Amino acid sequence: MAKVLYDTDINPALIRTRCVAVLGYGAQGRAQALNLRDSGVKLCVGLRAGSASRAAAGAAGLSVAEPAAAVAVADVVVMLVPDEVQAEIYTGIVAPGLRQNGALVFAHGFNIHFKRIVPRADLDVMLVAPNGIGEQVRAQYIDHHGVPALVAVHQDASGQARELAISYAWAQGHGRAGIIESTFREETETDLFAEQAVLSGGLTHLIQAAFDTLVQAGYGPEVAYFACLHEVKLMADMIYQRGIAGMRESISTTAEFGDYTRGARVIGTPTRAAMRQVLKEIRNGQFAAELERELGAGLPTIKAGRARARAQLIETVGQRLRERMHTRGRTD
Ligand SMILES: NC(=O)c1ccc[n+]([C@@H]2O[C@H](COP(=O)([O-])OP(=O)(O)OC[C@H]3O[C@@H](n4cnc5c(N)ncnc54)[C@H](OP(=O)(O)O)[C@@H]3O)[C@@H](O)[C@H]2O)c1
Repeated sequence: MAKVLYDTDINPALIRTRCVAVLGYGAQGRAQALNLRDSGVKLCVGLRAGSASRAAAGAAGLSVAEPAAAVAVADVVVMLVPDEVQAEIYTGIVAPGLRQNGALVFAHGFNIHFKRIVPRADLDVMLVAPNGIGEQVRAQYIDHHGVPALVAVHQDASGQARELAISYAWAQGHGRAGIIESTFREETETDLFAEQAVLSGGLTHLIQAAFDTLVQAGYGPEVAYFACLHEVKLMADMIYQRGIAGMRESISTTAEFGDYTRGARVIGTPTRAAMRQVLKEIRNGQFAAELERELGAGLPTIKAGRARARAQLIETVGQRLRERMHTRGRTD
């Protein structure tokens, strides 16, 4: 069993002795910068000239500078720009600009694990990976809760990397929910696998296949949409709050019986074999290599996938139905 750390196990002092440069003010950058400020940590947000986020960060009262200037005054640099641009930013700005014996924090292990970034040997290199989107990282913090996080150390040049990572995680409110000590490898492989098998790949294809099955059998697309997509949120919320067993005890007897007798036929032996293959391709680097080629070629698969998805009946029906319901995502 992994050890889980909570606020009471943590000495938060270390991060408050450092100046942090937060590179990026997007999903995680905004949340983490504001949480650092509210935890009493000195920080500067690094944004490129002409950045659309500059006004928002300034309006929040944060000090903002161009990335190279923010890195130049920092002891700790947090890489909260998209994963696909991190290697370029590390090589062009962080490696030449971060002070000797500084520290580098990632929110996802991909670039270190797959060696797209090979950091200078004098740096502490840590992972503080939230198990939640940026919006939750900030909202939970404000509510005096937090989202859980994985923490790991890739390089410990100072001898203090673990303590610094844990105190950074404390400043994000992760110690209120639980901090699990992990490795870059474990975080990267499990994160990619969960995305592909469940959170995006598995779930979207499950919903789409079920919707298509009903529509092809002659049922109305609106009815199929509500049954196979809309209600997913209600079930996900229940699983989130009560676990799978608790959810099953809360649903109707009919639904529970259908679950035990039909669920394993839908997600059966072939799906489990496919999951093992998907995991193998993550672990042997095949997925990372494919992604690298996709990025280099200008995202042809992603662009084609988006166009195909937009044209699906489930999207046109869903868009019309969602406009009449209060289900559009919060953007503020
Ligand atoms: N999304 C999540 O909630 C989530 C959850 C867990 C972990 N993570 C990890 O957190 C890290 C950040 O992800 P994110 O989703 O927060 O990123 P994001 O929202 O896409 O980041 C956007 C920010 O990055 C800046 N940026 C983009 N390209 C840049 C470039 N070439 N040079 C300089 N700045 C650039 C943008 O600046 P402009 O304003 O100038 O466009 C913007 O401030 C990633 O490692 C990701 O895997 C994310």
